[in-house]
Amino acid sequence: MSTVLVLLVTTIVAYLVHRYFKNKRFNDMLKKLPSPPAAPIVKHVKHFRKLEGMMEMIGGFLDEYDGMVLLHPGPNINYFAVADHKLLEYLCTNTKNVIKSPRYKLFERWLGENGLFTAEGELWKKHRSLVTPAFHFQILEQFVDTFNAVSAEFIDILQTQVNKEIDIYHYVNLCALDIISETAMGVSVNAQRDSVSKYVHCVQEMLRIIAVRSFSPLKVHDWIFRLTSDYQKEEEAMRVLKGYTNSVIERKQKALDNGESRIVNQEKRRRLAYLDLLLENRGVSITDEDISNSVEGFMFAGHDTTAIAMGCTLYLLATHPDVQQRAFEELRDILGDDKNKVATYKDLQEMKYLEMVIKEALRLFPPAPIISKQILEDYEFNGYVLPKGLSILGMVHCIHRREKYFPNPNTFDPERFSPENQSKILPFSYLPFGAGHRNCVGQKFAMHEMKIVVSSVLRNFELLPIDGFKMVLVPQIVHKPKNGIKVKLVERKY
Ligand code: HEM
Repeated sequence: MSTVLVLLVTTIVAYLVHRYFKNKRFNDMLKKLPSPPAAPIVKHVKHFRKLEGMMEMIGGFLDEYDGMVLLHPGPNINYFAVADHKLLEYLCTNTKNVIKSPRYKLFERWLGENGLFTAEGELWKKHRSLVTPAFHFQILEQFVDTFNAVSAEFIDILQTQVNKEIDIYHYVNLCALDIISETAMGVSVNAQRDSVSKYVHCVQEMLRIIAVRSFSPLKVHDWIFRLTSDYQKEEEAMRVLKGYTNSVIERKQKALDNGESRIVNQEKRRRLAYLDLLLENRGVSITDEDISNSVEGFMFAGHDTTAIAMGCTLYLLATHPDVQQRAFEELRDILGDDKNKVATYKDLQEMKYLEMVIKEALRLFPPAPIISKQILEDYEFNGYVLPKGLSILGMVHCIHRREKYFPNPNTFDPERFSPENQSKILPFSYLPFGAGHRNCVGQKFAMHEMKIVVSSVLRNFELLPIDGFKMVLVPQIVHKPKNGIKVKLVERKY
């Protein structure tokens, strides 16, 4: 018995000594990194009390410390915030020494650890190659019909809201949910008519909780988090979200079992949606749980981001009438005066000015303001050594607002993306869709979707700003409008 005890005590002591030296090296190296003065023990906690204003706060430090700064939201949390294009290039493109940050572990209860969004290594590669064919340009071309059909429904709904102050974000969010369900999943959920706002609300609740946890010195620990009311809220949200995605999967499986989609896919090679691809491999190379997690990740990644991007673009058009007029005239040149004429895939390629507008909206208000990474080996950069294991926040929002990269960064100016100006933008300084191997798989899909929805609005309505309303975004993993996105729509006269 006593031998067992001695062995146990020795093991614990050895473990603690090992941990001490391991942490000591790490902590000693952290002390050499640029960092604002911190309070004893609680460090920078006072700066991280709320999510609102956090981008501006970190952006201020990044300007002061030339694009790299170590922040401690609590005694046990270290994040190295980065808004330097060269360092971001390394973080986005190094496949050996850089992985997604442990911050993404907070997603695992919701999206699992093996979904496309969260997986690493070989498993991620398998997912990525499975999903890539679903974004082939021929598939995208076929999705244009669905984008148009859902958009027409969206316009019908907006017709009932003319001449009123409305929260356009509410409507565009449901529209984006219908689009991702009908295209990637091949299942119609009719969110716009049946208002499945419970699902939308729960996605937002999950993201809020994850964002709060990632900057909270207490809630970051599972055992403390479980004692909080946010844990109960997360449980409830997960129940709703899982129920929703599982019903989407089962509806699709039934359709496949009845031979519907399979015949369409094999004989006509049409509409091979993402979910078809997963279900074709069900039980072969992918488990039921992986399918559920992947669908969950895809629904969230594919609807919440485009919804806020479209909402912000519409807000910027409402508040910049000259840009709105030019975008409208371009659409008139391409599609003429018949509001009911639908845009083809080819028409979308012609919408060059609208694309410049959307790109500039994504610069000012990137839907995903942070991409998080972790380095697995020490890395030397600009005279500093970043220790292995360091968690890094790629500050997309902040680099987009640095004078060094974008002169007059707070001004909305689509001309930055004109063919002659765009080539002057430094690589890895504009990252709305991330970059490198973990970049956004849906970026072309998103651009086509946004062009169709925004152009439909512009062709049917004039967008007006609301006196006294200013959009405020809160970084809840994906940017969220604090008080909605208020605009007024007036019937467009030709
Ligand atoms: C304006 C719209 C969108 C924006 C701004 C956006 C942004 C991003 C960003 C920044 C990442 C990298 C995240 C990271 O590394 O932490 C990402 C990844 C991803 N996005 Fe998007 N996204 C958009 C639309 C979409 C759409 C429409 C889909 C699906 C149809 C989608 C699916 C994904 C997936 C699956 C990943 C993970 C890819 C991987 O890890 O291999 N996104 N997105």
